Amino acid sequence: MSYRIFNFSAGPAMLPTEVLEKSAAALVDYQGKGFGIAEVSHRGKEFEAVNDEAIALCKKLLGLGDTHDVVFLQGGATAFFTIIPMNFLHNSADYLVSGEWSKKAAGSGKEVGKLNIVATSEASNFDHSPLPNEWKLSGDADYFHVCTNETVHGHRLPAWPKHPNLIVDASSEFLSRPHPVSECALVYGGAQKNLGPAGVVLAIVRKDMYPRQKKTPSKLWSFKDQAENKSMINTPPTFGVYVLLEIFRWLEAQGGLAAMEKRNATKAALIYDTIDQSNGFYKGTVSVKEQRSHMNVTYRLPSEELTDELVKTAAKNGMFGLKGYRTVGGIRASIYNAMPVEGAQSLAQFMKDFASKKA
Ligand SMILES: Cc1ncc(COP(=O)(O)O)c(C=O)c1O
Repeated sequence: MSYRIFNFSAGPAMLPTEVLEKSAAALVDYQGKGFGIAEVSHRGKEFEAVNDEAIALCKKLLGLGDTHDVVFLQGGATAFFTIIPMNFLHNSADYLVSGEWSKKAAGSGKEVGKLNIVATSEASNFDHSPLPNEWKLSGDADYFHVCTNETVHGHRLPAWPKHPNLIVDASSEFLSRPHPVSECALVYGGAQKNLGPAGVVLAIVRKDMYPRQKKTPSKLWSFKDQAENKSMINTPPTFGVYVLLEIFRWLEAQGGLAAMEKRNATKAALIYDTIDQSNGFYKGTVSVKEQRSHMNVTYRLPSEELTDELVKTAAKNGMFGLKGYRTVGGIRASIYNAMPVEGAQSLAQFMKDFASKKA
């Protein structure tokens, strides 16, 4: 049995031990063939089978039919929010600016064309996502871009918006709950939180978006061309895609996305209840409770000294990676799919003990 601690890092993040063990074995000797899965051509039959099964399982988990394509690309989520306007921004696009990542996405859109910021919560340091009744949607936008879970600020949209051309950055919550991807134009996410190692981006594109695509500088940046070539215009990140396949198999074995949603809600409640019952020792950073993220739990302590002490003492007790985002501070406990309920229980108990000694 491998030595594993509870790793609360925001990304790259903890992956399920079974997935890592199976992937490690496949890296050395794939199905008894005497070579590893990362050592063979992406155009050979072994990797092709991996790619096909990964696409099929991803679609099955999300209940997707033939209307959408699944592609595994590179360049991180950052490359994606950069190439989306290059592909689809003709006249103007709507962006919801609810935190660090959606602000960056809007920043890259601005370089390409006209943007309408439907609402922003920047004035309150992104302590929540603007409520739907504040959004000023333009009606004739080429698309509407949202980030459904703001990794840095610890809030999420309780439900994904409905919009004919919704584009979603789901990086930090992908496959953590059922998602209405079948109703979306495009959903994308960097793998390094819920899906696998850094280096792969999972993108799901509705096929009726292709005729609206502009000409991109290279086929590499064209969703249509990538889908038609099964993400193999150039060498794909083969080992990363293999790990994604193992994650999809693991998710199926856990009972699928509805089961993950339930388990993630249990984990989140353990930590949020501890915050709420601490008589103000811990303060959640999200001002709208219904928006509290089930993936990234953010909170503060009365002083920076106590924050540092908590991070260091927790690490000594097998709970690693609790330091908040570099520009925001405080604590961020990331509890993605791979974090077991015991990890959240352990952190909640540790927080209670810490508060009883320090308050
Ligand atoms: C929601 C979200 N979007 C985009 C990114 C950027 O991802 P990458 O570093 O893979 O480009 C991150 C990274 O943490 C993220 O959390």
